[in-house]
Amino acid sequence: MSKSGQLWGGRFTEGPNETFAEFNDSLRFDKRLFVADVSASIEWAIGLEKAGVISTKERNDIVAGLKQMLEDESQHSHYFDGSTAEDVHSFIEGKLIDSIGDAGRKLHTGRSRNDQVAAAFRLWVRYEIDAIDMQIKALQSALVGFAQRHAEAVIPGYTHLQRAQPVMFAHWCLAYFEMLQRDRERLADARKRVNIMPLGSGALAGTGFPIDREAIAKELGFDGITRNSLDAVSDRDFVVDLAAACSLVMVHLSRLAEDLILYCSAEFGFVTLSDSVSSGSSLMPQKKNSDALELLRGKAGRVFGHNLGLLTMLKGLPLAYNKDMQEDKEAAFDTVDTAQICLRAAAIVIENATLNEAAARDAATKGYLNATDLADLMVKKGVPFRTAHETVGKAVLHAIDQGKELHEMTVDELKAFWPDIDDSVAERLSLDSSLAAKSAIGGTSPDRVGMALAEANMQLEADS
Ligand code: ARG
Repeated sequence: MSKSGQLWGGRFTEGPNETFAEFNDSLRFDKRLFVADVSASIEWAIGLEKAGVISTKERNDIVAGLKQMLEDESQHSHYFDGSTAEDVHSFIEGKLIDSIGDAGRKLHTGRSRNDQVAAAFRLWVRYEIDAIDMQIKALQSALVGFAQRHAEAVIPGYTHLQRAQPVMFAHWCLAYFEMLQRDRERLADARKRVNIMPLGSGALAGTGFPIDREAIAKELGFDGITRNSLDAVSDRDFVVDLAAACSLVMVHLSRLAEDLILYCSAEFGFVTLSDSVSSGSSLMPQKKNSDALELLRGKAGRVFGHNLGLLTMLKGLPLAYNKDMQEDKEAAFDTVDTAQICLRAAAIVIENATLNEAAARDAATKGYLNATDLADLMVKKGVPFRTAHETVGKAVLHAIDQGKELHEMTVDELKAFWPDIDDSVAERLSLDSSLAAKSAIGGTSPDRVGMALAEANMQLEADS
């Protein structure tokens, strides 16, 4: 006997084993495709009528029945509870038949769950890409805001986590802005491939009815239709595209988080997080921990895992549809949920963070961050860079020995390393002149960073 909402009982003499049903059924998670699947089903019914396959009355009944379901589902939080349907597609069809009778039994004409799930999933992914894009943009705005709150501030820049050269704090903020901009581009690129309609591919061979696929695609907001039915029902590249793009979003969020975790520690002391995004210790009363940032860093792993899981699931699958592909849903759902909560959390952390400008500036003036500026000064006076590098290296060694910074050495002391040095050296070794010198496009001079900040603002406004 077939269970309610089951689409394939005819050929079977036995109902599904309970454990098999639990194993096989996907309604508990793919119900998230409900709205997308009903929307596509409405357009499919319209297409069937246009092709002369069903009557106008049947189409009207189907469309009305499906619209009623959209309404009911939006009103009832337990809409799917108690259903024994195998998946969201059987659920919708079964419910439609229960409510409108025989006309409902015609909806599945010329289509298969294989092209149906591909279409509904693509609609869902498209919608989520747009949502993620908005959240990335909100984080970019938060970073621009952070930069603007500390527009004059300077921090030490690092390589190998060793102090290297001073940079404007806004330059640091805009570095993450750039990474996120590339993420948005990657998602937009993925969206182009997602937004192609597979409906009308049937189970694998195409549909046997004269359906105007282009017209359905247009109604559903797709940019085009798939060209090969075998590929259309078995292609999940678009899910990998999504997971790969989200993986890089997570890479960027985890690097942002790690920078801030360091900057919040007493050892750095550059950044203070709001209490509202920090946690305490159950034992140590003094602790204020950056849990939000640690979760941003930690959650990257599950998204990478989904990306790899999807690739592994698809690898070596024979054409066309195979049930393995049902595994794509939970991977995509968790990828999207994780990316979205992380983006929102990151924006909240940034919007409420404060840079301790004095501490950051102080750190930027200690540790010989101006050594390269001294070498550059020598180069500008005609000394080959390699010679200047060697000479300044020796001066730094001497300064370390004396417990001084380079700019604390007298002109006479410096002359022992390079006789041509003059009084202008003090000015050239200052933090301000070190920053101002990096005035080529992409550099950290305050003027450049000011322009970059204005451009970032313009970019955010342009696509709002
Ligand atoms: N729940 C299925 C999935 O996500 C829908 C397609 C099922 N098709 C089939 N022939 N079993 O892949």
